[in-house]
Amino acid sequence: MTRALIVYESIFGDARVIAHAIADGLADAMPADVVAAADAPAEIDPDVGLLVVGGPNHAFGMPRPTTRQSAVDQNDAHITDTHTGLHEWLGSARLTQRGTPAAAFDTRGSGHPVLTRMDHAAKTEEKLLGKLGATIAAPAEHFFVTGTEGPLAEGEEERARYWGRVLGELLTTGAVPG
Ligand SMILES: Cc1cc2nc3c(=O)[nH]c(=O)nc-3n(C[C@H](O)[C@H](O)[C@H](O)COP(=O)(O)O)c2cc1C
Repeated sequence: MTRALIVYESIFGDARVIAHAIADGLADAMPADVVAAADAPAEIDPDVGLLVVGGPNHAFGMPRPTTRQSAVDQNDAHITDTHTGLHEWLGSARLTQRGTPAAAFDTRGSGHPVLTRMDHAAKTEEKLLGKLGATIAAPAEHFFVTGTEGPLAEGEEERARYWGRVLGELLTTGAVPG
């Protein structure tokens, strides 16, 4: 049976909550495994019919070693390895099944609209998914936090559940070849 794989990076836990909510939303369509990028498999099995990836915006982009270190220094984040995350995983993982449908999400501050428009983590995730050989199945989704250390803005977890449901329906109705 085909399944979804959701790979996330999360410093303060918000993107992790979103990843699990997406899995809940997908549940009617397919089982979903949720895994942190640091623990994600080097090779993505052919039974993965949907790959979803996501994480926070750091300095308008995906987290990097320097921005993870800033989170440690400035926000007391508990990260044991600042060199391992979603960007690094997407850069080294192998996809067995070329064309596997995929989607990206990110979390971002709900501050000034002009500033959040500059956030491009999900866009970079999509580029890396393309390099991996995946096919983007749906536009990226963005989820808002109320501060650097969270929590998520009201209703965002429910919105993530809904997005998961929509992704599942796209695949099961054949709107996106699985
Ligand atoms: C070093 C650092 C840089 C950040 N830069 C941005 C940014 O450019 N844009 C933004 O919207 N949020 C920024 N944030 C806030 C993060 O988006 C927020 O911490 C994240 O969405 C929370 O998700 P998490 O709990 O999964 O880590 C930054 C946070 C940190 C720690």
